Amino acid sequence: MQMSISDGSPLSRVSEPRSVNHEDEKTNLALVLDSFKDKYSTFPKERGWMGENLYMYRGYWFTSKTAFAIETTIAMQNTFQAHSTDIYLITQPKAGTTWIKALVFATVNRFKYKTNSLLTHPLRTFNPHKCVPFVELEFLSNFPTYTNQHQPRIFGTHKPYTVLPQSIHDAGCRLVYVCRNPKDILVSWFLFANKMSDRPRVQMTLDEMFEVYTKGLMPYGPYWDHVKEHYKVSLEQPTRILFLTYEEMKRDTPNTVKRLAEFLGCPFSKEEEAKGVVEEITALCSFETLKEVNQLGNYRDGVTNESFFREGKVGGWSKYLTAEMSQTLDDITNENFKGLDISF
Ligand code: A3P
Repeated sequence: MQMSISDGSPLSRVSEPRSVNHEDEKTNLALVLDSFKDKYSTFPKERGWMGENLYMYRGYWFTSKTAFAIETTIAMQNTFQAHSTDIYLITQPKAGTTWIKALVFATVNRFKYKTNSLLTHPLRTFNPHKCVPFVELEFLSNFPTYTNQHQPRIFGTHKPYTVLPQSIHDAGCRLVYVCRNPKDILVSWFLFANKMSDRPRVQMTLDEMFEVYTKGLMPYGPYWDHVKEHYKVSLEQPTRILFLTYEEMKRDTPNTVKRLAEFLGCPFSKEEEAKGVVEEITALCSFETLKEVNQLGNYRDGVTNESFFREGKVGGWSKYLTAEMSQTLDDITNENFKGLDISF
């Protein structure tokens, strides 16, 4: 039983931002999968991550037959309706998706939900993925969801810029991109993926995961193309995409919170800064606070809430990767990011 919130907020009307087993999502997904059956059978195909087939679409690899896969990616492109005020948080899996969702939700909704309230802030009850859903799940839902009751709407996605629904581009929505050292992403992915039990998968050793990762054969991969694409757009259109790294967010979270607020058009007033609101948001969204809130329960079938909060450190890869693996990844990264001001 979730905590009941009685301040007239959307949470007092819905018991949970999104329930674990949404029947409408399943029904709509089945329809999308059916209508796209065979439509991508001619696309380049490789067996990569977790023994699944990956399909290449517009330069990126996608899984198939899930809400986050190639079928919904294509289906959404011309049918999902963005609002000009929407905010999209784009990440590679394990780059800091959960954290940026919490930070943006808390910052944008700070007048609605008092950040320092121990009892009533949604992030003190719900997983950040419930407060800020993936846009794919919104697309598959029949009902007004939690996020629809907030203005602006905030969504997460792992989809690269190139394949975002056209309406997001047309409406000029603001995008926040978070990238992270690929070595930490690889280790985080490896440990997370082998714990997921939402569907049958082939378990992978770290050596196997390293092999496919370096070839870019991961969902939404290649990693390097995903980062470069958003980095370049952020230089060309700085008011459209804010490009952040997990490492700079860790180094100076309050500064990140202020940059987010400015970019999203809700800068902190002098009074708020003096009252310590920035620090309150930082603390509310800290790894330690969120890990404690998310000890129990499932985010979705086979994916526990706590699985999104493992270690939350920079450089933890060194406990897992050999010197040779590290060198290989550094070489690929240096080659790809040559001339770009991206460092970890
Ligand atoms: P580790 O596995 O290295 O600990 P994502 O949210 O994109 O799935 O990424 C998960 C990674 O972000 C995990 O990294 C997780 O521990 C870390 N993380 C989650 N919440 C965080 C927070 N509030 N602050 C810092 N890191 C966080």
